Amino acid sequence: MLEKIKESALFLEQKISTQPTVGMVLGSGIGGIVKDIEVEIEIPYKDIPNFPESTVVGHKGTLIFGRLNGVFVMVMNGRFHYYEGHSMKDLTFPIQVMNKMGIKKLILSNAAGGMNPSFEIGDIMIIRDHINLMGNNPLMGRNYDELGPRFPDMSEAYSKKFIKKAKEIGKANHIKLQQGVYLAVTGPCFETPSEYRMFYTMGADAVGMSTVPETIVARYLGMEVFALSVITDLGVIGQVEKADHLEVLHAAKTAEPNMIKLVRELLPQL
Ligand code: HPA
Repeated sequence: MLEKIKESALFLEQKISTQPTVGMVLGSGIGGIVKDIEVEIEIPYKDIPNFPESTVVGHKGTLIFGRLNGVFVMVMNGRFHYYEGHSMKDLTFPIQVMNKMGIKKLILSNAAGGMNPSFEIGDIMIIRDHINLMGNNPLMGRNYDELGPRFPDMSEAYSKKFIKKAKEIGKANHIKLQQGVYLAVTGPCFETPSEYRMFYTMGADAVGMSTVPETIVARYLGMEVFALSVITDLGVIGQVEKADHLEVLHAAKTAEPNMIKLVRELLPQL
């Protein structure tokens, strides 16, 4: 594992001129930010040693290095999901590589179903905490003490400092921002009305199929995390409608300009 992380990091370091300072994982609803990046190099995942391959429609599979609003970033343009059959270790491997390359800050984004009745489709939610209901954890198995502790703390999984800055940016730019708890399931099916109700009762505001494994690994490694959800469908009690992937992608598109604006402005302030 340690050797593989080192090998992938070395491979990438040889291809870039500057050390990236922020890592990003682009989920649905923010992919368009790629056109704002002054790309130094874009590498398909399949060309990177030890990287898994991405298989989902609407999710690309390249790693981009470049400058975004003055910040040199390492961007996963498309992520790996547990439901694709990747192991938790494999799908979080790129976070290990980011850390090995010296990155200490991570921005994650995803599409999620909203359960909080005050949410609307197209809302952006700042994730303030999460609930892991994936039934697995990327830190299972042997621990490497040189990477992080056996029992890592999760009391502030999402940086309060980053959240505060994001809210200030939202206010200054008239971007409507929700804030809430993201609950992660494996997918790939969407939830039954009873499941949405259960998750809301448990204290979650939104549900999705990603992000939590990456956050857990990043915190374990001592990285600071900021994460956003685009609310693409509603699992609100009494008004659950049929959800499908294309609708999710469409709803995610409507939020995209504000997602991009927020992240662009936030980057130099992290
Ligand atoms: N549930 C789970 N994952 C999702 C949803 C949802 O309603 N919407 C987008 N990703």
